[in-house]
Amino acid sequence: MASSDISDASQLSAQIESASGAALAAISTALDAEALRAISAELAGKKSSIAVLKSQLGKIDDIESRKTAGRLINAASEAIAVALEERLASLSARDLALQVSSEPLDLTELATLNRRGYEHIVSQAQQRLEDVFIGLGFQIAEGPEVETDFYNFEALNMPKSHPARSEFDTIFLNSGEPNSILLRTHTSPVQIRVMQTWEPPIYAIMPGRVFRRDTPDATHMPVFHQIEGLVIDRGITFAHLAGTIEAFTKAFFGAEFTSRLRPSFFPFTEPSAEFDIRQKDGNWIELGGCGMVHPNVLRAGGIDPDEFTGFAFGFGIDRMAKERHNVQDIREMYTNDLRFVRQFS
Ligand code: DAH
Repeated sequence: MASSDISDASQLSAQIESASGAALAAISTALDAEALRAISAELAGKKSSIAVLKSQLGKIDDIESRKTAGRLINAASEAIAVALEERLASLSARDLALQVSSEPLDLTELATLNRRGYEHIVSQAQQRLEDVFIGLGFQIAEGPEVETDFYNFEALNMPKSHPARSEFDTIFLNSGEPNSILLRTHTSPVQIRVMQTWEPPIYAIMPGRVFRRDTPDATHMPVFHQIEGLVIDRGITFAHLAGTIEAFTKAFFGAEFTSRLRPSFFPFTEPSAEFDIRQKDGNWIELGGCGMVHPNVLRAGGIDPDEFTGFAFGFGIDRMAKERHNVQDIREMYTNDLRFVRQFS
């Protein structure tokens, strides 16, 4: 019986050698990490040829022969595991290097950029305006850009048939009743929302984006920015309005600037005015509209016109940024051309 044991053992060792030789060859010829991973279970897993041979060790009766065969198998599977790991590491590194070199990124420009961002000149102007009005005791309020006909027109004393509506080239949304939902054409609707939710005394400014159906040109954009002001208190008069405009003018533009009010018309104020500013003997620059809040508007905001009076004003922010930085064409402020933007960092 011993001779057959020995012959079984030597047969087994030949099989171990050929199995491990085949596995090592497969490992060294795998084309890439993915291919190697795909065959790794077959080479070193529970169903690999080496593992199958190991499960047959018990058939060798001679203890010494079995031990020798066992050692051979362990050494072979160890060699396979190590080869697998090493080849996988080197193939992965090679694959990564190949990927990196085939997807080059030129980062040269990044190194030359001033990496810190900065505010757009319209945001800068808005923030300076907010600072000045906060200094005058005002609070900031915001309202939605998508508005209803009620807030944008009706509550501002512009009933359906009012001719002033046609001055606002309104963009309506396909929602609800026809022509009932729109992109706000001015920040004035926020006045109503503030009156409805705050208790007087109210000293508020309301900056934001507004929309009109305008073809862009050097001085117009269909999307632009306004800032609205609203004061509601007991005993507020036109003199308070004029004084506030003057205080704002000096605080924002400088002590050498002054303001004036010219009679005008807005449906939501009575009386109404336009306000201009100028430096010493310079030309008057038109800035915005203002006036005493119309009693109908106070009522729409839930405020009793017999108890409270107030004034309001509104003007464009983009134009202020344009004037301040001497921008020739307002469209340039929205092209996001770095050569333009970088001038104002
Ligand atoms: N909403 C007006 C516009 O867009 C500007 C305006 C005028 C606002 C007079 C006011 C105001 O608050 O009192 O043309």
